[in-house]
Amino acid sequence: MTEDWWQSAVVYQIYPRSFKDSNGDGLGDLPGITIKLDYLAELGITAIWLCPVFRSPMADNGYDISDYRGISPGFGSLNDMETLIAEADKRGIKIFLDLVLNHTSDQHPWFKSAVSDPKSPYRDYYIFRKGADGKPPTNWRSIFGGPVWESVPSGSAGAMDGGGEYYLHIFAKEQPDLNWENPKLRQELYDMIHWWMDKGVAGFRIDAISYIKKDPAYPNLPVDGPDGLADLVPCCLVFPGIEKFLAELRDKVFKPRNAFTVAEAYGVRPEQLRDYAGEGGLFSAIFDFTYTDLENGIWYKTWLPSAAELRDLIFRSQKGLLGKGRGAPYFENHDQNRSPNRYLHPEQWTREGKTMLGILFFFLQGIPFIYQGQELGMTNYPWKSLDEFNDVSTFDQYQRALAAGFSKDDAFRFIQHRSRDNARTPMLWDNSPNAGFSSGKPWLPVHPDYVSINAEAERQDANSVFAFYRSMIALRKKHPDLFFAGDFIPHCEDNPSLIVYERSYQKEGRHERALVICNFSDEKQRLDISNIGGKGAKGIDRGALVLLGNRRNAGASIGRESSGNILLEPLEGLVLGL
Ligand code: GLC
Repeated sequence: MTEDWWQSAVVYQIYPRSFKDSNGDGLGDLPGITIKLDYLAELGITAIWLCPVFRSPMADNGYDISDYRGISPGFGSLNDMETLIAEADKRGIKIFLDLVLNHTSDQHPWFKSAVSDPKSPYRDYYIFRKGADGKPPTNWRSIFGGPVWESVPSGSAGAMDGGGEYYLHIFAKEQPDLNWENPKLRQELYDMIHWWMDKGVAGFRIDAISYIKKDPAYPNLPVDGPDGLADLVPCCLVFPGIEKFLAELRDKVFKPRNAFTVAEAYGVRPEQLRDYAGEGGLFSAIFDFTYTDLENGIWYKTWLPSAAELRDLIFRSQKGLLGKGRGAPYFENHDQNRSPNRYLHPEQWTREGKTMLGILFFFLQGIPFIYQGQELGMTNYPWKSLDEFNDVSTFDQYQRALAAGFSKDDAFRFIQHRSRDNARTPMLWDNSPNAGFSSGKPWLPVHPDYVSINAEAERQDANSVFAFYRSMIALRKKHPDLFFAGDFIPHCEDNPSLIVYERSYQKEGRHERALVICNFSDEKQRLDISNIGGKGAKGIDRGALVLLGNRRNAGASIGRESSGNILLEPLEGLVLGL
């Protein structure tokens, strides 16, 4: 392993719209984040991933960019961004931006020119194609529902002679896809990224990057839904040839600047991991969605995994990464619901349940990501009606459930549970009105839990979820090599209630080992650890020390029953030093 500056990073994801409003307009903003940097420094994180703050008409809350070099007025100014970068730097915190390179907004000047003039120099920055027989060029379904093609109104200035032209959008129609085949477009994007790095940005989370290459044959695909459309995956996801674009992006931008990059790259296959996130790979690290996006994009397929099912998903992901690439373990982000709701029964949404979940993901291989509010133990908002939601995909998923034959009540239940807005309700700062998020009317409702679950109360409580996340971060920082790069050794893979894994790191005579144990059961459980330890190891001795526990004190020795077993409390989470 070569040493890279980001290997010991602990990243905190901020959804700026919902983090802290400094001017009372009901929307979070950049000065709000700056105000809260001391809170983040106290938590101990070392980098912030900021969801998009660029100029945008907000059809998809900033993932539709109309000016890559401007800040959306609702979030503040370029000056505010520079202040944030400088103030974060003073606290040892780096800033990572969200790079949306697959598409822009339909309000971007490039697209406005392209769509209104077939001769525009920007026409070839996007993907325009002619349909046939009044139908779009292909039958591909967009990620947010409906066809990927939107027609250029015939007779309009942008229509070619004869009309029948369409532009392609993998996401919403307000998010036209960029044409990566065009070298001029690619160079514009690279220049823009350099420009941000000149401002002191240290890395990037790269949005939807596995969609940038399309099958140049643009074939129709077998219809697979009642809408008469077909999943676009075979023609648009990690399509062969994409590596060339990604390698150029790395070589022209990220590598010379030593930037950290984490790819939102759905669809990368295990055998491709070495290329994507291995040493010298296309990105520094990669997110794996298989253990978080349980419904695989179709929310009416929602399910609550058992401990054994969750273990299978996580272990498969970790084993897939073994020796190949660097992961970015996480349980929450702005596209998911809250993790207690996703993985636990309601009666387990306690401090113990939430901290046990924390332990489970936080010590996996790679660079860990914490999402705002996760460190407080926030849960899904209790939605009561459809008009409380804001998210574009929530409305689409509601319609999809109806179209699949579910009742309105069922469809509502699915979005209530799975809506992306669950992660987007305002951050809970204190027990004042609007949880201290804003003095105005918040853009999304505030979770009624704020009276007890809030940053101010939890900072003062040594037994809070926040205090526990602080300890987890401190522990990870103490053993950066072990937790970033150490081997992942699965244990107890047939136990129905326990998830147990070991991390082990050996270098130049130094051998560090830790055992992570999570009891998902509401009952006490016995764990036989006599065989844990691998070849030549002694197992765990009576004196093994608790490095971190949600039911025992750090520094205590583990203590075994005369049978040799460890008795675990309900929902106990433990990290043992071996
Ligand atoms: C990514 C983002 C998501 C956004 C989509 C389109 O998946 O995480 O929030 O809607 O890309 O840009």
